[in-house]
Amino acid sequence: MLLLVIFFLSFFLFFRFATAYGDFTLMFKNHVKREEIEDKVIWITGASRGIGEVLAKQLAALGAKLIISARDEAGLERVKSELSGKFAPNEVKVLPLDLASGENKLKEAVELAESFFPGSGVDYMIHNAAFERPKTTALDVSEESLKTTFDVNVIGTISLTRLLAPFMLQRGRGHFVVMSSAAGKTPAPGQAVYSASKHALNGYFHSLRSELYQKGIRVTVVCPGPIETSTSSGAEVVGKKGVSEKRLSSEKCAQLTIIAATHNLKEVWISYQPVLAVMYLVQYMPTIGYWLMDKIGRNRVEAAAKKGNTYSLSLLFGKNKSS
Ligand SMILES: NC(=O)c1ccc[n+]([C@@H]2O[C@H](COP(=O)([O-])OP(=O)(O)OC[C@H]3O[C@@H](n4cnc5c(N)ncnc54)[C@H](OP(=O)(O)O)[C@@H]3O)[C@@H](O)[C@H]2O)c1
Repeated sequence: MLLLVIFFLSFFLFFRFATAYGDFTLMFKNHVKREEIEDKVIWITGASRGIGEVLAKQLAALGAKLIISARDEAGLERVKSELSGKFAPNEVKVLPLDLASGENKLKEAVELAESFFPGSGVDYMIHNAAFERPKTTALDVSEESLKTTFDVNVIGTISLTRLLAPFMLQRGRGHFVVMSSAAGKTPAPGQAVYSASKHALNGYFHSLRSELYQKGIRVTVVCPGPIETSTSSGAEVVGKKGVSEKRLSSEKCAQLTIIAATHNLKEVWISYQPVLAVMYLVQYMPTIGYWLMDKIGRNRVEAAAKKGNTYSLSLLFGKNKSS
């Protein structure tokens, strides 16, 4: 009897894992806590397109007071006009911002964001903006590309946090939601600098949380695998003929991100297989995980150069699909 129970339990867990698109913690949280979002001030960077735009739509519908940022003001105005909810579109604040513009500009943006909704400062800061160049080898990266990636993904994001956190600390509450990546947990052949920037974010924000948790500061680090957007973070266009990467929709990614934040989860992984399985291997069995990535690495760089599938299991066997 006990063996039968163990068999069915293992089968159930294996089936859930094989068909999952979130890690084990996220798998068992299936609803957004609306009360954690409604009437809250939520500032989203990178809201002019992609996952940030979809996050804005879902959060507006849940009754949040939104501040949306990116460099492209026209893009932000378009997103604003398409939002609907208790405070949208009319009370949505458009705050154009270049994360690489230096501390003085970021300080001005923080002061504006804090003043937009009288009586309530920023409750959630969603660090979603990022810069990613098309895939290239670790040695082919130019200094300019290295600096741009780190200026936006790391220095700008951390500076904004340093400037905003004191306001949150005065209120005794505040929540940073950080859009990292699977590339922030595992090696990402062909995306070494992007991966380095996301590893840096993970290190900073987990440390920040452990320093400030007792003072009311929450941090949720979100690590998505491949997500379908109109432009996959500057890489190849999704749906392009011949490219058959299996990507989770931006809508599902945004929904799981909101679930994770409202349940105050500290880190979540969002992806289809085989990316989730690789993340588990690298985290819990690093010797095997890194061995696997070493087998895949060169093939993935070649697949990226041919605009092929860079998430396929076939990379392990050297059979690159290309367009
Ligand atoms: N899509 C994926 O497969 C995937 C997978 C894992 C993780 N992620 C992460 O999820 C987040 C969103 O990805 P996405 O695919 O939706 O990205 P995306 O479509 O490329 O959009 C990036 C956003 O960041 C903004 N941005 C870029 N440079 C900026 C700067 N200097 N200052 C301020 N804003 C800037 C862009 O707006 P402007 O150009 O108007 O400034 C845009 O709104 C990113 O952090 C990304 O690393 C994405």
